[in-house]
Amino acid sequence: MTARNGRGIFITLEGGDGAGKSTQAELLTTWLRGAGRTVLRTREPGGTDLGQELRDIVLHRRGHIAPRAEALLYAADRAHHISTLVRPALDRGEIVLQDRYLDSSVAYQGAGRVLDPTEVRDLSLWAAEGLLPDLTVLLDLDEGAARDRLDASRTQYDRLEAEANEFHARVRSAFLGLARDEPDRFLTLDAGRPIDDIQHDIRSRVSELIG
Ligand code: TYD
Repeated sequence: MTARNGRGIFITLEGGDGAGKSTQAELLTTWLRGAGRTVLRTREPGGTDLGQELRDIVLHRRGHIAPRAEALLYAADRAHHISTLVRPALDRGEIVLQDRYLDSSVAYQGAGRVLDPTEVRDLSLWAAEGLLPDLTVLLDLDEGAARDRLDASRTQYDRLEAEANEFHARVRSAFLGLARDEPDRFLTLDAGRPIDDIQHDIRSRVSELIG
């Protein structure tokens, strides 16, 4: 397995649907670029052309997708994304700021779809040739509050968003469990707080990381 790259910094944002990852990522990107850093802002699923096609299938295909097939589709997106976009950027010394990564697979396909979380993680690590983030920001939000936010902002739900609150509660506790298992990698923040307060905490941690 080829694990860490040489020079860049890999930051991922995780959390349930409606936790505010995109807003925080946008603010952080603007701040980092303002400080003269080169930032690759990307996401899974869908960070590449191939990924867009896979994203369309996993999020919008009508009808059932078997849980293992779903896990493999996310892993395929990840393999291509990491190999063609993320790792080259890290090798160039850039900061990669990514919405969702392997922790989403463990939480959604593991706890949500009830596959074995260790197997899902191993599948992702194989797909990504062992690459782990330097920092993972977990935006934690109670699933009821997350649902209220989604209701206010969406007219249509994708396949995962449309799952019952109970599914999202399992996903949430899986994320919290992952964060407890790897306290050095994770920064867990209460996503119910004001946007600027959350951003402040993220910047403090990122400042330590980039020196
Ligand atoms: P997206 O619109 O990117 O959600 P959000 O804006 O909340 O980040 O859709 C991604 C969906 O895919 C989201 O519901 C979580 C799910 N997902 C998985 O189930 N497994 C994965 O490995 C990833 C990366 C995402």
